[in-house]
Order: sequence, then structure tokens, then C-alpha cells
Amino acid sequence: MNVTAVVENFASTGKRGRVSGMQPVVVVQHPLAQCHLAAIRAADTPSHEFRRHLNHLARLLFFEASRELPMREISVQTPLKQTQGAQLARPLVFAPILRAGLGMLDGILPLAPEAVVAHVGIRRNEETALPQAYYANLPASLSAADVFLLDPMLATGGSACEAARQLKEAGAVRITMICVVSCPEGLAAMKLAHPDVAIITAAVDAGLNDRCYIVPGLGDAGDRYFGT
Ligand code: PRP
Ligand code: URA
Repeated sequence: MNVTAVVENFASTGKRGRVSGMQPVVVVQHPLAQCHLAAIRAADTPSHEFRRHLNHLARLLFFEASRELPMREISVQTPLKQTQGAQLARPLVFAPILRAGLGMLDGILPLAPEAVVAHVGIRRNEETALPQAYYANLPASLSAADVFLLDPMLATGGSACEAARQLKEAGAVRITMICVVSCPEGLAAMKLAHPDVAIITAAVDAGLNDRCYIVPGLGDAGDRYFGT
């Protein structure tokens, strides 16, 4: 079974990786990822189980999203012999969009505990579905880092576009978005505003309903994660 399906690949090169100006969208079809996704979609999954499944799913998505990170060789002394090992070549920054992105951070941060966390507070206006930025705490410079933008839902794309804009304004030049459920509208908005941002997702759903919720989706990710 395919581990991933590259929905929109690098037509010119035919290989995965970051090519300037091109936006790959990778749908992670790993069986474990799809099992966790089914669990968080289910309306009768309680918050404590929703949290557990979202944490696991985020970790699997990050595993895929981090596959191409550059490494540098280091020398390692084992108890027996000098040998070669590897370190990440650049610092990592995780940028969860508040609130629901925090649910992904909880799953991912243990894999890279040395990462810096950049908080981006954006909420959708319930009437207009437009993003409203209400808080930001970003490191002074993001230019040297590999930045992972975290949000379970890519609906209209308004929140993700605004978050990527803020990250770029703070110097980010390498941004990968990890989201759980996306849809064509959100992917199109990101492609238009931020074609250089790669997107790793567990699903591309059919589209939005008249309240701009993803269908079939999973409902309001933040409310379900935090039990509000
Ligand atoms: C949700 C979700 C995204 C956004 C997606 O957050 O977590 O941030 O909506 O919608 P969009 O693509 O149309 O912008 P919400 O605004 O509900 O805030 P919350 O995480 O605090 O619940
Ligand atoms: N925000 C969510 O949490 N879910 C959606 O379907 C759309 C926006």
C-alpha cells in the first residue's frame, strides 16, 4: 500500500522535495494515520479520546513532513568504536495556530523537544468565516529555521494564509503546513497566496458547507479537543 499519495507533485522533476515556486500537497495514507483519522471524525468520540487520536495522528503526519529535512554528519563515539551519525542541519520551529493547533503540538513536540514554539493566535469570525488575528509570539528571526505550521483544519484557508503571512513577515523562508483535514477551497487559497508552502494532510475532503465547515470533516476541532 502507498504510504503517501502526492496529489500535486513536481511535474518538472517527478520527485518529492522542495522546489522553488511549487506547492506539493501530500496526502498521508498510512493505515495507522487513517485509523486515527476515522476515530477523530466520529461524532461520538469523547474529548479525551479525540486528544489521544489527534496527538498520534499529528505525530505520523510530522514523520512524513520531516522526511526531507537536511542533516549534517557528526562523529559519534559508541562504547566500542568511533562512527558517523547525523543531526538536523537547521533549527526547527513549530507554529501552532491557536487553539486547535496546540492539539497537534502536544503530539509532535516530544519527537523534537529542542524545537522552538511560535504561537499564532487566529480565530475565525463566526459570521463571516474571515480570520481575526488576536495574538502572536514569534521568535525574533525565523530565517534559519525549518518552520512547521500546525492546524488540524484547512477550511477556507483564511487562517492558514494569515499565519503563513505572519511567519514570512518574521523572516520564515521554509514553511511546511501540517493539517489533518483539508479541502479544495483551502488548498486553492494557500496555492494562490503561498505557493511555496508545502502541505501535508491526512485527507482532502469534498468541500465546505454554507457555514464554511469542512464536509464530511470532523466538526469544530478546537471545541472537540478542548471540550468547550
Ligand atoms: C479553526 C481551525 C482553523 C480554522 C480553519 O479554528 O482550527 O484555525 O478554523 O478555518 P479557515 O481555513 O476557514 O480559516 P477556529 O477559528 O475555530 O479557532 P479555535 O481553534 O480557537 O477553535
Ligand atoms: N474550523 C473547524 O474546526 N472545522 C471546520 O470544519 C472548519 C473550520
